[in-house]
Amino acid sequence: MEIIPLRPGFGGELRGLTLADVAAHDAAYQAVRAAFEDYSVLVFRNQDVSNESQLAFSRRFGPPETTKVGSLGTGTHFVILTTIGPDGKVVPPDHRYAMRNKANQLWHTDSSFKSVPALASILSGRTIPQNGGETEFVSTRLAFERLDPATRDKLENSFAWHHYGHSRRKIAEGLATTEELSALPPQCWRMVWKNPVNGRGALYLASHAYAVEGMDPIEGEKLIDELTVAATAPGTSYVHGWRAGDVVMWDNRATMHRGRPWPAHEARHMVRTTISATAIDGVESMRPPPRLAAE
Ligand code: OGA
Ligand code: MN
Repeated sequence: MEIIPLRPGFGGELRGLTLADVAAHDAAYQAVRAAFEDYSVLVFRNQDVSNESQLAFSRRFGPPETTKVGSLGTGTHFVILTTIGPDGKVVPPDHRYAMRNKANQLWHTDSSFKSVPALASILSGRTIPQNGGETEFVSTRLAFERLDPATRDKLENSFAWHHYGHSRRKIAEGLATTEELSALPPQCWRMVWKNPVNGRGALYLASHAYAVEGMDPIEGEKLIDELTVAATAPGTSYVHGWRAGDVVMWDNRATMHRGRPWPAHEARHMVRTTISATAIDGVESMRPPPRLAAE
């Protein structure tokens, strides 16, 4: 396996191995897992991807999430992000599928609004538009390390509240349904996720974060916005331009990502698998004191 760095400090393209190698061989998994802990975003090109091969690869990293109510693929291990409607035609720009993609164009980390947050997401490009439709990543580990020590200390002991409704409301009132909202009550997480393997902390932020525990609501939201702006400073991102056969995997503990727009008449179809964070991934240290969790 060869690793081609993509950006200073994060992102790597892995060459010389396939999803099937990782699914089948412990040594290949161990090598990719080590690269994942270091690089946060891994790119595999020219893969022969099916739902089965994607899931077999994904399962190596931990338990796959079951897709929530209201998303395409609900009840399975796949999230389908598509603009192709049931009739095979591209949906109009105000269609729910298209609006969902818009919400993905806000900087976020996957599943911070769930009671079990995500370790990793694995996204494969199945139908790729001719123009645009890239996925952009930043390292919230590097963003954390850019902050001054006093701010870092404070954030390590701060907790933020995350809610699915918050990010969806930024796109359109009512985009999140009452069914989704009742399945997804607000969650509180530490604002810095420390990687148990290398000890490096990363800002845990997302478009879903709406308040900081113990802070005035407006001040807390302002802090979240300022940290997001700093974490996504121009020139710090890796922009993945999709080609057929690409699979991109990212560490939701140490990155934020967003989709980039593309012309509404062009089809785009992507399939995501998402791995829940477990104790070995440091999730227990992210939970707030019981006093807060019970609110
Ligand atoms: C995702 C996501 C952005 C994109 O799959 O979690 O945010 O570019 N995707 O489709
Ligand atoms: Mn996402």
